[in-house]
Amino acid sequence: MLVSAKEMLQKAKAGKYAVGQFNINNLEWTKAILLTAQEMNSPVILGVSEGAGKYMTGYKTVVGMVNGMMEELKITVPVALHLDHGSYEGCLKCIEAGFSSVMFDGSHYPIEENVAKTTELVKICNEKGMSLEAEVGSIGGEEDGVVGAGECADPQECKAIADLGVTMLAAGIGNIHGKYPENWKGLSFETLAAVQELTGEMPLVLHGGTGIPEDMIKKAISLGVAKINVNTECQLSFAAATREYIEAGKDLQGKGFDPRKLLAPGFEAIKATVREKITLFGSENKA
Ligand code: 13P
Repeated sequence: MLVSAKEMLQKAKAGKYAVGQFNINNLEWTKAILLTAQEMNSPVILGVSEGAGKYMTGYKTVVGMVNGMMEELKITVPVALHLDHGSYEGCLKCIEAGFSSVMFDGSHYPIEENVAKTTELVKICNEKGMSLEAEVGSIGGEEDGVVGAGECADPQECKAIADLGVTMLAAGIGNIHGKYPENWKGLSFETLAAVQELTGEMPLVLHGGTGIPEDMIKKAISLGVAKINVNTECQLSFAAATREYIEAGKDLQGKGFDPRKLLAPGFEAIKATVREKITLFGSENKA
């Protein structure tokens, strides 16, 4: 059964580790992430962007696939199914479809509007026992058409949103989605420390987990980050393993063209990436 992300993140914040959010795109992704979390006895969050939801034909398909898979694979670790960077309407759709968690990304609205819309969603999510992530200060880079410049959030604005009763808060600290450019300045720990100071117990969320050096990940966790989102890194490892298989001509040998064979190296590569991240984030055996 899917669970809200609240309990797993409060435990993570108190225990100074982070739970990974791994974005899913299809059956292979979902299976790889669920199996790895189960093997490592780790809680996990499956992230679904609006674009990925559309790709998988809609949120109801996603809910059906994840629920069915959890039952058939006998997954017993806590799993939250979470809308990533949702619009207000997208959140309502996912709540209706049976997600257990949503993110409302109001970071591009003026703060008053972000507050107003987040307030409404807090009420709805509380009634349903779901977790809600809010965002202040947009995350840089491009993800499914949502483009941001990598701002640093205003800590006072973070406090204003945290005080509305959201479950977890994403604050921009110079992080961006996708690969980091050569001239990236690194995370702003000054901003993170200021946000943590004002928001106290609130689990903080670090987006753009791909390519952040290990020491920065560890420092971010020590400063209150309890959820780290990883998307691009699984895509890169899947693509590299698939390329290797094709370039080695394996699809031309025997039944190597069978999708169950063709997609197997990519599937294993996602598992390896997720395993590495769960180890780094410290959530192994925290289920
Ligand atoms: P990356 O694609 O950079 O790992 O970011 C993922 C993310 O933050 C999803 O919201």
